[in-house]
Amino acid sequence: APVVVAIDGPSGSGKSTVSRAVAARLGLSFLDTGAMYRAMTWWMLANDVDVTDAEAVAVACGKPVIVSGTDADGPTITVDGQDVSGPIRGPEVTAQVSAVAAVPAVRARLVELQRGCAEVAERGIVAEGRDMGTVVFPQATVKVFLTASEAARAERRAAELRAKGVDEATIVAMAADLARRDAADSSRETAPLAQAADAVLVDTSELTLEQVIDRIAALVEE
Ligand code: CDP
Repeated sequence: APVVVAIDGPSGSGKSTVSRAVAARLGLSFLDTGAMYRAMTWWMLANDVDVTDAEAVAVACGKPVIVSGTDADGPTITVDGQDVSGPIRGPEVTAQVSAVAAVPAVRARLVELQRGCAEVAERGIVAEGRDMGTVVFPQATVKVFLTASEAARAERRAAELRAKGVDEATIVAMAADLARRDAADSSRETAPLAQAADAVLVDTSELTLEQVIDRIAALVEE
């Protein structure tokens, strides 16, 4: 069977960067499932769906056509043919994505797309998110749960935003939003953020990016 590397963890654990780098190094496809939840949220907001109304979100979530390009050297995401990789990182989507991701019909639809991406990945796939090891790929070859201290995660996110030229007031607001989102993602009923029983825990607080990538690549190559 093709290799599936399932990587889960909270925001700011370094998940996206690490997962993409591991995929590139091992010649595997790469899937950012958070981008799919963000793309769904972007479409809801663009189409005036009340994202606080779970019933309305459930009814609407079958409409957008979401396509993830899984090349580790340049992942892409489109909604109805439109490239949304920029807008899905904006504060509006970030503030609402946890509410949309908590709706079971949304998860059912996106999980199906995620499994489809793994099926067509020629050499295998590195998939990152919140429920890769627990729900989407229970038979994954390797499961990793990435964590970092809250301070380290907040510091990383702030550095990312600062590098993009975001002002300090927004950075403080985004930090508060991040804590709120982690709490929501961990406490929701459907597929909460959790470490799978057979996942390897990697705490990245004191490790460099290179060290984390080496450790995960070694697990896959074992
Ligand atoms: O960018 P960041 O790491 O903060 O988050 P993300 O990976 O882009 O995911 C955005 C949001 O999507 C999360 O806060 C979750 O609410 C949701 N998500 C999820 O529910 N399940 C996944 N497998 C991936 C993301």
